[in-house]
Amino acid sequence: MLIGVINQKGGVGKSTTAAHLAYWLSHFHKQNTLVIDSDSQQSSSQWLQSMGMEFRVIDDPEELFETVTNFAEQYDSIVVDAPGVLGETTKSILLAVDLALIPAQAAQLDLASTEKIARLVHNVQKVRKGLPHAAIFINKAEKRSVLLREARVALSDIPGIKLLETTVYRRLVIADAPGQSATVFNMSSEAAQLAAEEYKQLFTEALNYGETQPE
Ligand SMILES: Nc1ncnc2c1ncn2[C@@H]1O[C@H](COP(=O)(O)OP(=O)(O)OP(=O)(O)O)[C@@H](O)[C@H]1O
Ligand SMILES: [Mg+2]
Repeated sequence: MLIGVINQKGGVGKSTTAAHLAYWLSHFHKQNTLVIDSDSQQSSSQWLQSMGMEFRVIDDPEELFETVTNFAEQYDSIVVDAPGVLGETTKSILLAVDLALIPAQAAQLDLASTEKIARLVHNVQKVRKGLPHAAIFINKAEKRSVLLREARVALSDIPGIKLLETTVYRRLVIADAPGQSATVFNMSSEAAQLAAEEYKQLFTEALNYGETQPE
C-alpha cells in the first residue's frame, strides 16, 4: 500500500509514525518497504538508516509524485513522511497515495488548520473519486484528559476523514527511540511493549480502512 503521513502542524509525530509504520510493515508483515523522507529540513534519515530501513530523501514535489507512482510496483509498501507545511509536496503525496494517515495532537488542535487540511484532502478526493482514504488519529495524548475527549468530538465527523479509534499516548519510550537507533518494537522494556501494542493496533486499524472501497 502507498501511505502518506501528513499534517501541516510541526511536531505532531509524522516522522515518528512513518518510521514505526515502515518498520512494522517490513518486520511484522515481511513487506518490501521503502520510506520516502520528503522533509530534508527535519530529516529522519539518520534514524531510518541506523535501523537498516530502505529510504530516499526527495523533497521536490514532482519528483516525489513520480517516484511514488513509478516505484509502486517494485515495493509492497511505500511510506512517505510529509513536511510540516501544507504545500505542493503534501499535495503530491495526496495525489499519489492510497492512504493518508494524519497524526493530530489534542493540545494543538485548532479549527482553522483542521479545515485547511480537510479542504486539501477533499479537493484531491474529488478528482481521484474518493482517494486517498484519509484517517486521522490522536497522538501524544494524555490519559483521561478533557482535551482528549474534546479533540475526539471535534474530529469525529469530518467528511472524508475517518477518526481512528486508536489513540497513541505520549510515551517517553517513543521519544527515546531515535536516540537508541530503534523503534519501540525492538526495545524490551514494559513501556516499549505497551507502546508497541498501541502502534500495532493503530496500523492495523488504519490499513484496514485503507483497503475499503472509497465511498
Ligand atoms: N506518542 C508519542 N509520545 C511521545 N513523544 C512522541 C510521540 N510521538 C512523537 N513524539 C516526539 O515528538 C517529537 C516530534 O515528533 P516528529 O518529529 O515525529 O513530528 P513531525 O510531525 O514529524 O514534526 P515535523 O513537522 O517537524 O517534521 C519528537 O521528539 C518525537 O520523538
Ligand atoms: Mg517530521
